[in-house]
Parts: sequence; structure tokens; C-alpha cells
Amino acid sequence: MEIKTVGVIGCGLMGAGIVEVCARAGYDVVVLEVNQALLDRGLARLRGSLEKAVARGKASQEEADRTLGHIRGTLSLADFAACDLVVEAAVENMETKKDLFSALDTVLPPHAILASNTSSLCVTEMASVTKRGDKVLGIHFFNPVPVMPLIEFVRTILTSDETMEAARAFGASLGKTMVTAKDTPGFIVNRLLIPYILDAVRVYENGLASREDIDTAIKLGLNHPMGPLTLLDFVGLDTTLFIADAMFEEYKDERYAAPPLLRRMVIAGQLGRKSGKGFYDYR
Ligand code: 3HC
Repeated sequence: MEIKTVGVIGCGLMGAGIVEVCARAGYDVVVLEVNQALLDRGLARLRGSLEKAVARGKASQEEADRTLGHIRGTLSLADFAACDLVVEAAVENMETKKDLFSALDTVLPPHAILASNTSSLCVTEMASVTKRGDKVLGIHFFNPVPVMPLIEFVRTILTSDETMEAARAFGASLGKTMVTAKDTPGFIVNRLLIPYILDAVRVYENGLASREDIDTAIKLGLNHPMGPLTLLDFVGLDTTLFIADAMFEEYKDERYAAPPLLRRMVIAGQLGRKSGKGFYDYR
């Protein structure tokens, strides 16, 4: 099956990045947002990322212009009728995702693949509201999407070999390295990342070390690009708490139990970079 047109649901941080890498690879991309203001903001973020890529010598101006020429924003799901593959990157809410999957199932051509960029929700449950369970999978990108080289594929017990093959060809065309995981909460990366990040919060909460020393220790002691608390600010405390809660809900394992400080910081609106303050101050 040849993929020519890609649909992306959501033009937030992840959605905009997914649109950018798909359009850069030469796909025609249609991207949906819930209102014009969010669409404008997402497309402005995308343009900013392309400008940065040009400034860093990662893309030519001509390539950036060509990329933008492949992108069309819309507020209507009906514009997805010609899509061969859709990547859903809407809010992490199962009801929203199921509504979208059910609606997309009626709009999309029969051959189209339906994927979710979810980081923790059950992909099988999304597939269950469609009549194309064999064509549903998770395609999990990492933030920042244009920079991070990995895609995690999530294969459900319904996903066909043919769908996996098409997804792999798609991932390769984006220049990404691919891994495949079963549809279990956290897949591979978050299954390992979430306990590590939660432990870093516990170390800080228990007063074992300062936040700077925790981050410096991991950054320089393990050669990670960011320490765990900086990474938590980067990913978002609310997003991380959501993933941890979803994993705890399913596994009932204390490794995924959110430390009280994390929950309180989210309640207080300290969400990390996006809110201007998390473990560090970005204002
Ligand atoms: N397009 C293309 N390339 C770009 C770019 C863009 N818009 N912006 C930056 N780059 C390139 C730069 O040119 C540079 O390339 P080089 O190393 O060849 O020169 C490289 O990307 C790094 O960019 P910067 O120099 O601007 O930034 P840093 O060196 O400070 O790195 C970072 C920033 C890439 C975010 C790095 O700190 C990092 O890797 N942090 C960890 C990120 C991470 O772990 N992400 C995963 C989060 S978990 C997740 O997403 C899963 C979810 O489910 C929670």
C-alpha cells in the first residue's frame, strides 16, 4: 500500500512536529485543530521550527518552503477523506480519542491506516470503536519530534502484518529508527522512563539532594542530555502525572505511583516549561 497523503489530528507540540516531519519527507499533510486560533498557533510553531532548522543548517530555505507547501490546515474532519494514514495526536483523553477514531472510521477510505500517538492509553480500546482493527496501531513519536530519531510502534492483538509493514515503510521514509512494543501501558520508553522520573522526584522530595545536583549528577554521571527534573519540566508535569496514573491504574505497581509533590505541583499549575515554572523557573 502506498502512502501519499497523511492526516494529523491536533497541531499541539507533538502534532505540529509530526506534521513537520511528514511534510518534510514529501507527504501531503492535512492537519486538524478544534478552532482557528489553535490551528494558527500550531502552524506558527511549525514555521518557527522550520526557521530554526534552516538557521542550524539542517534544512535549506527551499526545503522549508517546499515543506510548508505540503501542509494544509483544516477544522473539518471531512477533509481527511483522501488520507492513506492518519496519526491522531489529540489530547490524552480516551473518550475524545474514541470519538475521533469512530468518526475517522467512517470518513477514511477503506485502505487507510489509523494510528494514535498516545503515550499511555490503550490502543486496542481505540481500535474497538472502528471496523478496521487490523489497520489500527500506535505510532509514538518523541519530543521534539523533528530532532528525536525514534518511533515506537505499538502493535495490538488485532494489527495485521500488512499494516505493520506499511507503518515501517512510513517510519523509514521519515528517517526515523523504529522499535515495536505490545499494547501495554507505557510501551517501552515510558515503561522505563516514568519510574526513573518519579524516583528523581522522590529523591528531591526526601531531601537527598538539591534539584540542580540531581540533574547534574545524571547529566554528567550518565551522559544524558538532560537531568530527570529538567526532562520532567520539558515533557510537562501534567503529562507525566497523567501517564503515571494510567500506568498505576493498570499495573497497581508502586513504581508508577506518583509522589505527592508531583501531584501538588500539577494542582498548583506548576507544569514545567509550558506554564513558565516547574522544578525550575522559566519566566
Ligand atoms: N529541526 C531540525 N533540527 C533541529 C531543530 C529543528 N527544529 N532544532 C534543533 N535541531 C537540531 C540542532 O541543530 C542540533 O543538532 P546538532 O547536534 O547536529 O547540532 C540538535 O537538534 C540539538 O538542538 P539544540 O542544540 O537546539 O538543543 P540541545 O543540544 O540543547 O538539545 C534537546 C535539545 C534535543 C531537547 C536535548 O536536550 C534532548 O535530547 N533532551 C532530551 C529530550 C527527550 O528525552 N525527549 C523525549 C521526552 S519523552 C517523550 O517525548 C515521550 C512522551 O510520551 C512523554
